[in-house]
Amino acid sequence: MGIVILGIESSCDDTSAAIVKDGFLLSNVIANQQVHQSYGGVVPELASRVHQQNIVPVVDTAIKQAGVALKDISAVAFTRGPGLLGSLLVGTSFAKGFSIGLNIPLIDVNHLQGHVLAHFIKEKGKELDQPSFPFLSLLVSGGHTQLIVVKSYLEMEIIGQSIDDAAGEAFDKCAKVMGLPYPGGPIIDKFAQQGNPYAFKFGLPQVSDLDFSFSGLKTSFLYFLRDKIKEDSDFITKNLPDLCASLQNSIVQILLDKLVKAAKLTGLAQIALAGGVAANSALRNAVMQAANEYKWQVFLPQLSYTTDNAAMIAITGYYKYLAGHFATHNISPISRIKEI
Ligand code: KG4
Ligand code: ZN
Repeated sequence: MGIVILGIESSCDDTSAAIVKDGFLLSNVIANQQVHQSYGGVVPELASRVHQQNIVPVVDTAIKQAGVALKDISAVAFTRGPGLLGSLLVGTSFAKGFSIGLNIPLIDVNHLQGHVLAHFIKEKGKELDQPSFPFLSLLVSGGHTQLIVVKSYLEMEIIGQSIDDAAGEAFDKCAKVMGLPYPGGPIIDKFAQQGNPYAFKFGLPQVSDLDFSFSGLKTSFLYFLRDKIKEDSDFITKNLPDLCASLQNSIVQILLDKLVKAAKLTGLAQIALAGGVAANSALRNAVMQAANEYKWQVFLPQLSYTTDNAAMIAITGYYKYLAGHFATHNISPISRIKEI
């Protein structure tokens, strides 16, 4: 019959369920939450309520689309954290009930590990260019900015991370300041295509070692706009492409600087991007240029697996199943996880 894993993701504002069979993806269903758009960010209480409404139909659709029977499911894997506690609780409780109901093992998955292992989601009939171990991963999302040495499927080490805001958060918060809707990253990326990345300069952080900081950039951007708007109230509208391109260029500079440092320090030349911000076109271009210069082999995840999805949770669950790493039913979600 093979090993069939149901994966469940509910760490932030996407409810997702996926089925992986013997490492191949059979279905990946995602319900996005539009309710947060007008608030300029995810509202935790609203997110958990919508997860409750979505979880049953999303899981049901994923199982039907995969064409598997309930009796064929070997285990259920769920995101334990990090994330919003109320959101995580919905997926965790559902997974526990599902595991007890079908009498199948329960597998807890670290959301960050899931993002990193998105590179290993295989699909029938599609060639997959996978990194080999060890490799260096730059995980950039709305909640995280991390440099991770990936030693095997389940052995990873964080060697650098943001001491304040995440890269995606910097995109989202600066977008909000410019009056753009949430999530701001893709919109800034779009406007930036028509702008000059060197039009404006913002203060770049001085953080030691391989750590990152983005809160200073956000403040510098905010003060810059405040001063410019005093002189011309239409400053943002008149300069939107240049503002987006310059801000994006600063964020990419910060990321690339530490990525180059990490590659030199570890001696790793296989670089794998992960997380929602890995979809950013300027970041992708900058990493490809650096690859030429430093002789890196770069792995860019398929766009549909960069943002939050359950396929990455199911594939991580699959490798944990093979390793015999199961959870007990008294496990609870955790909003912050220091280790990976
Ligand atoms: O990985 P993800 O879906 O969720 C978290 O785990 O946080 O990442 C979402 C983040 C948001 O901050 C969003 O603005 C950002 O990824 N993002 C982008 C782009 N697409 C998504 N940021 C910059 N450029 C993009 N094209
Ligand atoms: Zn994520």
